[in-house]
Amino acid sequence: MATIKCIGILTSGGDAPGMNAAIRAVTRAAIYNGLAVKGIYRGYKGLITGEIQEFKTQNVSNIIQLGGTILKTARCAEFKTPEGRQIAHETMVREGIDALIVIGGDGSLTGARLLAQEFDVPCIGLPGTIDNDLYGTDTTIGYDTALNTILDAVDKIRDTATSHERLFFVEVMGRDAGFLALNGAIAAGAEAAIIPEFNTEVDQLEEFIKNGFRKSKSSSIVLVAESEITGGAMHYAERVKNEYPQYDVRVTILGHLQRGGSPTAHDRIIASRMGVASIQALMEGQRNVMIGIENDKIVYVPFAKAIKNDKPIDRELVNVLNELSI
Ligand code: ADP
Ligand code: F6P
Repeated sequence: MATIKCIGILTSGGDAPGMNAAIRAVTRAAIYNGLAVKGIYRGYKGLITGEIQEFKTQNVSNIIQLGGTILKTARCAEFKTPEGRQIAHETMVREGIDALIVIGGDGSLTGARLLAQEFDVPCIGLPGTIDNDLYGTDTTIGYDTALNTILDAVDKIRDTATSHERLFFVEVMGRDAGFLALNGAIAAGAEAAIIPEFNTEVDQLEEFIKNGFRKSKSSSIVLVAESEITGGAMHYAERVKNEYPQYDVRVTILGHLQRGGSPTAHDRIIASRMGVASIQALMEGQRNVMIGIENDKIVYVPFAKAIKNDKPIDRELVNVLNELSI
């Protein structure tokens, strides 16, 4: 196995608060262990165009508290082709990058897996996404901050919902995963969550009207996970207008504000731990794994497992929400 002297680091896909803390941790841990570090700009795009800069410890000073990513991020269609990945690999060889640390969601880790397979390049992934949809880790970098943003917003919506005695559908992100909606609903004391995972099981709107929206409650907040599967908040508002016209309904789509902001202590800590673990993993000879945290311990999750499996929703959480929203 060739010795690793220089690592490349990139952020890819949707940005997430805590990515900067991860960049800082990877850079500092690598330098601490005698490795050179190269920052690759704009995700896989920068690997194709060669937008790369050597990083010293001072390049990552004063960034732990910042949202977004100093390396920028992008979605790069060219990298999805074998030809694109070939160019990316040629850039790595030219730049003397022996191993790659990729911070991103399941799409980004799928790309890392392919690069690793096709060119025998050691790649380590860090789960950076607000969606929390990667298997093998209890939480992803950015998820906790996004949850806190959601509950801050819902607390405010609650004021006006109560005053006007309205039913609010608040749409949150998550792509096709309901973690933000379900845990956001519990944290904000919402009346229900509508999530893609349960879409085929029950009519979640009917369930909510039946169980959740009692006569003693004159206002209600339902968190709806964005997704083609659920149809989103607008779809449910339309349904209520048609099927339950007695309710005064409004919609708020939280959108990209969920992706911004200074990372919470939790996200900064997991990003720092995962960043250090990624360098440790490389030095132990690990390849093609995502760093996860399970039961507060660092774990190595093979890319295939992290990406392929649908991370299950804990049904206990649904019970908690149902019991507390009476
Ligand atoms: P995320 O990483 O947040 O899930 P995307 O799904 O948009 O975000 O993926 C980010 C980038 O990862 C894509 O723009 C592309 O460059 C790369 N990628 C995604 N899927 C693949 C794939 N199947 N093969 C190769 N690269 C991929
Ligand atoms: O994966 C993160 C995420 O914010 C999803 O929750 C959302 O569906 C998607 O990215 C939005 O992506 P874009 O950056 O293209 O608007």
